[in-house]
Amino acid sequence: MARVAVIGAGTMGHALALVFALGGHQVRLTDSSEKTLARAQGLMEKALATLVANGEAPAEWTSAHLAQMVTRHADLAETVDGAEVIVEAIIEVPEAKRTLYAQLAECAPKDAVIASNTSQLDVFPLIPEALQARSMIAHWYTPPYLVDLVDVIPGPSCEPALVDKVHTMLAEMGKQPLRLRKFVPGYVANRIQGAIGAEVQYLLEEGVASAEEIDAAIIHGLALRLPILAVFAKADFTGLSLSQSILANGSYTPPPPRRQSAVLDKLVAEGRTGVLSGAGYYDWDTDAEKLFETRDKKLIELKQALRKIGTMAGLERDQ
Ligand SMILES: NC(=O)c1ccc[n+]([C@@H]2O[C@H](COP(=O)([O-])OP(=O)(O)OC[C@H]3O[C@@H](n4cnc5c(N)ncnc54)[C@H](O)[C@@H]3O)[C@@H](O)[C@H]2O)c1
Repeated sequence: MARVAVIGAGTMGHALALVFALGGHQVRLTDSSEKTLARAQGLMEKALATLVANGEAPAEWTSAHLAQMVTRHADLAETVDGAEVIVEAIIEVPEAKRTLYAQLAECAPKDAVIASNTSQLDVFPLIPEALQARSMIAHWYTPPYLVDLVDVIPGPSCEPALVDKVHTMLAEMGKQPLRLRKFVPGYVANRIQGAIGAEVQYLLEEGVASAEEIDAAIIHGLALRLPILAVFAKADFTGLSLSQSILANGSYTPPPPRRQSAVLDKLVAEGRTGVLSGAGYYDWDTDAEKLFETRDKKLIELKQALRKIGTMAGLERDQ
């Protein structure tokens, strides 16, 4: 059991605290917002209850047990006191992260590993020299208690033994750590998701299909094969000479890069900012908690089915 400090208790932080606790670690959680730190307890309890009810966490994981495993602290120094691993999950704002790392250089235990959950921002230039040898990125996907991939990227002068330590810790928690050779914004999965995002905006803006129709094409066309074959195994099944011809014909051209979308701007201007506002591309029920619970239950059912079915691609390939 390691002592883990999670800094930032927002969308990711509260869920990461739960994941590390479920992984057998003693967690301290903090946030600069008192309100967010208070809200984190209910969010963790709700997610935990869904996991227990669906067989993804043992029944002894009651709210009382959670309260023993994850404690909340207003003070940063108290949060990181005695920590072996410090998880940075604060807002993706360079100055906020720079300030926090400067504070950590003062108050973090000298041998603590520091792992940032940054999505796109290269945090390494923001980290003081004193912390460089112990700094890395461990990037999770939401909800991290269900999505197992964790991108692990060592800082430029991070000690390799510490990267091994975090890799082993994550694997022992049942996660799928993916160690990348160097930092690239968005890592692997989010870059591919970014390319899909650019493509769907293009199709929508050009009036090729509606949001619902594009989602239907993804669900019924793209998504079914992905968990079994991913991309390279699917290409092997298609036949690589077809891939070669498609490249040679130049028949696919990516959409021109854009920094704005008229459709997106209109939705946001109308206050349709996503499930928390009750609407986005779709109209949603106003009970966001219920929506998250429904999403989690469906993801659990899919995950359990996929565990049985297995995959013909990737690191756990069966045949
Ligand atoms: N939301 C996602 O799906 C997702 C997925 C992977 C990675 N990330 C990354 O994780 C990080 C956090 O993202 P999020 O979505 O949880 O953001 P969020 O806005 O929900 O939460 C960030 C929290 O950080 C707190 N905070 C800000 N400065 C702080 C400080 N100095 N000390 C302590 N707390 C502080 C804020 O009060 C806020 O509650 C970002 O780097 C983001 O890119 C997000």
